Formats: sequence, structure tokens, C-alpha cells
Amino acid sequence: MAGNEGLYQRDGRAIAGLQKLRFFPLAVTGGEGCYLIADDGRRLLDFSASWGAASLGHGHPILREAVDAALKDQAGASILSAATAPAIELAESLLAVTPGSGDRKVWIGHSGSDANEAVFRAVAAATGRRRTLSFVGAYHGGTAASMAVSGHSVQEHAARAPGLTLIPYPDPYRPYEGDPTGGRILDLLDRHLETDCPGDEVAAFFIEPIQSDGGLIVPPPGFMAAIAERCRRHGILLIADEVKVGLGRSGRLHCFEHDGITPDIVTFGKGLGGGLPISAAVGPAGILDFATSFAMQTLHGNPACAAAGQAVLRVIQESGLVENAAHGGEYLMAGLRRLADKHDLIGDVRGRGLAVGVELVRDRETKEPAKTETAKLVYRAWELGLVLYYVGLNSNVLEMTPPLILGHQQVHEALTILDQALGDVAAGRVSDEAVAGFAGW
Ligand SMILES: Cc1ncc(COP(=O)(O)O)c(C=O)c1O
Repeated sequence: MAGNEGLYQRDGRAIAGLQKLRFFPLAVTGGEGCYLIADDGRRLLDFSASWGAASLGHGHPILREAVDAALKDQAGASILSAATAPAIELAESLLAVTPGSGDRKVWIGHSGSDANEAVFRAVAAATGRRRTLSFVGAYHGGTAASMAVSGHSVQEHAARAPGLTLIPYPDPYRPYEGDPTGGRILDLLDRHLETDCPGDEVAAFFIEPIQSDGGLIVPPPGFMAAIAERCRRHGILLIADEVKVGLGRSGRLHCFEHDGITPDIVTFGKGLGGGLPISAAVGPAGILDFATSFAMQTLHGNPACAAAGQAVLRVIQESGLVENAAHGGEYLMAGLRRLADKHDLIGDVRGRGLAVGVELVRDRETKEPAKTETAKLVYRAWELGLVLYYVGLNSNVLEMTPPLILGHQQVHEALTILDQALGDVAAGRVSDEAVAGFAGW
């Protein structure tokens, strides 16, 4: 891949490793729709959409128009000390589309991390409760307080919140204590709530309606409703982190709708900005109005980013992208299941809408994670023209979060590449050296 070397090598010299999570030497110079343009001129089918952020694909005309208009007559740069139309309109739209009752407000930030951080700090301060619940494998962000309520192995260096209790996430493919319903986990939670983590001391339970970076795990039916019921019983605020799987991606506008629950607070990020940095939290005024100057950064509510968010919500609704994600996801998963008939490496295919995971194993009986093979698979797919990464605590789950505008033709293209890449990896045609420099996670 000689054509990549210029940009990638300069990146190696100039850009800090602290924020790198690299799987192959991808260097991008542009993008259009579902495709990225690499610096060697290749058009690469983007099945990550930058981890779900580029929800409308690359260079969507309505997004461009909205951002352009916001910058042409720029209403300042911030909402900290001024009211601005783009931020207010975005907040009003989010209130309109997010279920909930009572007096509610919207907090606007830059990223999923700062939204979860602001919520975590606000719920603790407003309720006076010092305990928090979340799941083993949860990824709620990369800032100190969002990491503090996460449970992902990539953050082993991070300090967890002193009052944090992590419980296992129910994984139907790798059931906790052999129970695929998650019932044993609920029993464990009940024991915690009665002993070392008393329910009346817990401010919030952070959930991911699909555990994304932990392995694209779809919880079994009824599990999240049972969590919600326990939260109600103990006065614990239920926080749904919809940062990766919200706003249409799951085939419903909100992923928590699949579970029939109404969270107290919902956090949004990634796809909300269609590739621009914006996040939000929607929740009770009693929490989000608890104090002023409590969780703010200068550029929060920036008009260009808020206009992007508003455009994304409009396009999702007017272009039927929720339905497209639902149908596209079914179509993609059906194709992946056909590949599973042919390739033993595939242990499980799962997902909702266009949030799809493929777990790779060395042996379908023992389910031994195929970690090296997964690294080789994404590397080979990139060589063949498909961009996707992997997630999971065992580093063996292919994550597919393509743009919500994905069409059937692109599904075919991806399946063809994956078919070849799976065959090449199984046949040992991808060397250890090829992936040696890419740590992944
Ligand atoms: C569920 C979830 N929440 C929060 C975040 C943090 O978002 P960001 O990295 O955009 O701050 C992520 C990122 O992967 C995520 O998957």
C-alpha cells in the first residue's frame, strides 16, 4: 500500500498516540455518501462511519447547507452567555422526539463523553446519592468522569467512581452462569441493592441499550425492563446512553424503544452531529437545572454544530432513515448469516438495525475468541476496500455501524468483500506481520 505512506507517516510523526485506535494504515482525503476516499485514490466502503458518527454518510447536501447557513450569519460561538436560535431549535426538537414527562430540559455538549460526564456529576450533586450502577464492559466515554462510570477493559488505567458497582451485561451468546435470559444477573443486582450497594444510596444506573464497545451485545427481551423496574422501585435515575445506537441506528428512533422502557435521562452524541461534534442530554429540569455554571465548555451549543444536529434530525425523519436502518439491518444480517454457513470463524451474528456485530471464534463449541483472526480480518477487508473495526472485551467482534443511508447495493459489496476476507484469513493468507503494528483494543 505504498500510496498510503505519505499521509500515514506524517500522521505517525505529528499526531499523538494517546488518541489513536488503529487497525490498519487508513489515510483519508475525502468522502462521499457511504464511501471514503483514501489517499491512494481508492473508494472504500465505510462500514464504520467513524464509529457511527457520520450518520448521514459523508458530505450530505442538507447537512452542508445547514452548517453553511449557520456560519454565513454566525450567531456567536457559544450558548454559555447568550441565547441562540440553532441551539434552542435543536433543544426543542430533541424534547419533541424524546419520550418523557414533567418539566424537562436539554443540556448540549460536544461528545458522548462530555454528555455522560455532565449527567453523572449532575445526578450525584442533585440527588445527594453517591453510588452509581453500570455494566462490566460499558463504554460511556473517554473523559475522567465518563470513564469513572464505565467498565471497559481498554480503560483499565482509569479511576472508577468510588461508589461504582459494575454488574455483568447479559450476553445471550456467552450467558452469565449459563442463563441466557439474564435472570441470574438480576438476582445478583438484587443482592447488591440489598447489601453493599443499597438502592436508596444509588443516584443513577447507566445503561447502553446495546452494549457497543463491549461487543455489540443485544440484551435478551425483558432484561432492560426489569432493570427499569428496579430503578423505579429504588428511586434510581435510569440513564440511557444512546450515543452510539440512538437516533435511528437501531431501526427505531431510540434504541431503548426496543425494550419498552422510558429512561429518566437520555444522552446523545456521535450521529447527532452527522460528523460534527455535538452531544446532548435530555432529562428532568430538577437535575439539568440543578445549578448554573456547573458543566460547561466555551463552545457548547456552537451554532454550526447545533445546526448540524438539527439537520440530522430533520433528514432522519424526512428521508425515512429509521425505516432504512431497520430494513437494511435485516438484509445485512441475513447475508451475514449466509456467510456463517460457509465460514466457521463466524460464531454469532447479532444486532438491531444498522448496529450489527459479528463475533469471530476459533471453535464454535468452545467459543474461543478468534482475536488474531479478527485483527487480520479487518486488515484484509480494508485491503479489499471495506472499512470496519472490531470491538469487544475479547477483541473479536466486528462492528458494523455504516451510514444510515446505506443501500442494498452496498450491503452486497460488503458481503462480497467479507466473504473473500474470511476465506483469506482462514487459509492463512494474511500474515502476522501485516497486523503487528496495529494494537487495536
Ligand atoms: C455508548 C457510548 N457512549 C459514549 C461514548 C463516547 O463518545 P465520544 O467518544 O464521542 O465522546 C461512546 C464512544 O464510543 C459510546 O460508544
